[in-house]
Amino acid sequence: MSDWVAVARTSDIPPGCAARVEIDETPVAIFNVGGTFYALDDTCSHAQASLSDGDLDLDRCVIECPLHGSSFDLRSGDPLSLPAVEPVRVHRIETTDDGVLRVALADEVTAQ
Ligand code: FES
Repeated sequence: MSDWVAVARTSDIPPGCAARVEIDETPVAIFNVGGTFYALDDTCSHAQASLSDGDLDLDRCVIECPLHGSSFDLRSGDPLSLPAVEPVRVHRIETTDDGVLRVALADEVTAQ
């Protein structure tokens, strides 16, 4: 399991917004859904597209890939629509008492 890495302050990513960070050269997308933060691989599992540039569906907790439109569940990384068929990794994310977001990279995909 990877170590926790500070990536941003919570105030850097307002509700309904996303940000792209890099941890050990791995692009990670951070999403704020109503104050709950999610961290996923930023690179789509289908091709080279940045999920943090996609459309965030706050009601469904889903990100839509900006290139071909596959949707991914932010909680599981599962693809919900084609053309993507492979999940993206979901990483652990936490907020420290002083408002710093920390991410620990997952070793492998968590979705089935
Ligand atoms: S690159 Fe994301 S669906 Fe094709």
